[in-house]
Amino acid sequence: MNPIHVGLLGTGTVGGGTFAVLARNASEIARRAGRPIVITAVADKNLERAREVVGKMPDVRITDDAMSIVDDPAIDIVVELIGGYGFAKDAVLKAIANGKHVVTANKALLAVHGNEIFAAAQQQGVIVAFEAAVAGGIPIIKAVREGLTANRIEWIAGIINGTTNYILSTMRDSGRPFADVLADAQALGYAEADPTWDIEGVDAAHKITLLSAIAFGTPVQFEQAHIEGISQLAAEDIRYAEELGYRIKLLGITKRVAGGIELRVHPALVPAKRLIANVEGVMNAVLVKGDAVGATLYYGRGAGAEPTGSAVIADLVDVTRLHTADPEHRVPHLAFRADQLENTPIVPMAEVESAYYLRLRVQDKPGVLADVARILADNAISIDAMVQKEPAEGEGEADIILLTHLTREKNSDAAIARIEGLATTVGKVTRLRLESLAS
Ligand code: NDP
Ligand code: HSE
Repeated sequence: MNPIHVGLLGTGTVGGGTFAVLARNASEIARRAGRPIVITAVADKNLERAREVVGKMPDVRITDDAMSIVDDPAIDIVVELIGGYGFAKDAVLKAIANGKHVVTANKALLAVHGNEIFAAAQQQGVIVAFEAAVAGGIPIIKAVREGLTANRIEWIAGIINGTTNYILSTMRDSGRPFADVLADAQALGYAEADPTWDIEGVDAAHKITLLSAIAFGTPVQFEQAHIEGISQLAAEDIRYAEELGYRIKLLGITKRVAGGIELRVHPALVPAKRLIANVEGVMNAVLVKGDAVGATLYYGRGAGAEPTGSAVIADLVDVTRLHTADPEHRVPHLAFRADQLENTPIVPMAEVESAYYLRLRVQDKPGVLADVARILADNAISIDAMVQKEPAEGEGEADIILLTHLTREKNSDAAIARIEGLATTVGKVTRLRLESLAS
């Protein structure tokens, strides 16, 4: 059987993992795909790295000119593993224009330019596959797009950034400082080229944007996502959350609600008894709630060379199986047919409903708690639990931690502004959202 010819752009962490797994499992993969999948050309700016990845395989062309692969008529599928949306975007659009199928792990590119890229692919009748772009080795795109196709998806909530989960877990377990743990994640190849994308929640927002589009049948709407990362998270909140029976996780959440779709990334308290609260290190997990199936949970490695390579190769097998099928009869890029996508609005954050964890430092004197409780009541916020921490010896200030019932974000904004205005409140109120993730 004739092999399908693949051109690999980028031989870094994921490119290296993809090459290694494909070489190691070539015959088994060919038995599944129906024909051999062969990387015939690789490109990297760093030729030394490319040579190391290819090793002694004699028939692989190595170049530092990635566009020469994109323009090579002998290549059937271009695998883009460069990252970013500069050169990578040009390469993907050129590959599509040249009639080639594309496999990419580049969530940033698809979250920001996906509408243009999928439209171009649709017009050319080629496939753009992106399993590796969300949650690394977990086949979550396939699960939502195909496995759950019978369902009206209600919500998705996931730990979808390995770097921040690794940082949160390691800091909690070892007490090591943030910067040290981040350096580990970079050395292990988990972090993005610019790790602020991980820490500030941007990478998770890219991924939840893609999941949201395929769950609800909308175009990608990254610019509407609400994004908060973990850089402002204080160690005492991680500790207090534990004491109250919660774990803090950076969650990507998308939910169908009456006014549209919620699309948000932020740290959140999750009940420690939930499976997802116990997902540690670089592991990712995605909870998907469908109306028919109920809640389903997907777990695995969210980053790293071979786990991500595994997802890239799954796409290569899919493309190999499907590329001769009539484009009209292939699985649509965003799960719903392109002419059936709906511009459902993203709900503004002020209208999102959540329970909250509030931590405030107050002067330890009579009436302070009553003032806080009155402000919360004035804003229709009901208190679920409250803990006051004993002031340290000789200190006249105490930490109060409040858990609230569900309320709108705008109510909590208004209450916090008033609490911070009290003469007895010291500094800012810390607010974290609390997600019960009950099925
Ligand atoms: P790396 O930085 O490890 O690899 C990218 C490689 O591409 C580098 O060798 C880089 O060279 C090379 N490169 C950059 N520009 C060009 C160019 N114009 N032509 C040819 N080569 C070029 O990145 P990763 O493998 O970590 O990530 C690749 C993609 O996969 C990204 O989109 C990332 O978001 C995504 N991803 C990564 C995961 C991970 O675990 N790392 C998991 C899931 C997705 P140089 O270093 O010299 O710039
Ligand atoms: N930087 C990403 C993460 C890589 O840490 O999850 C996987 O997409």
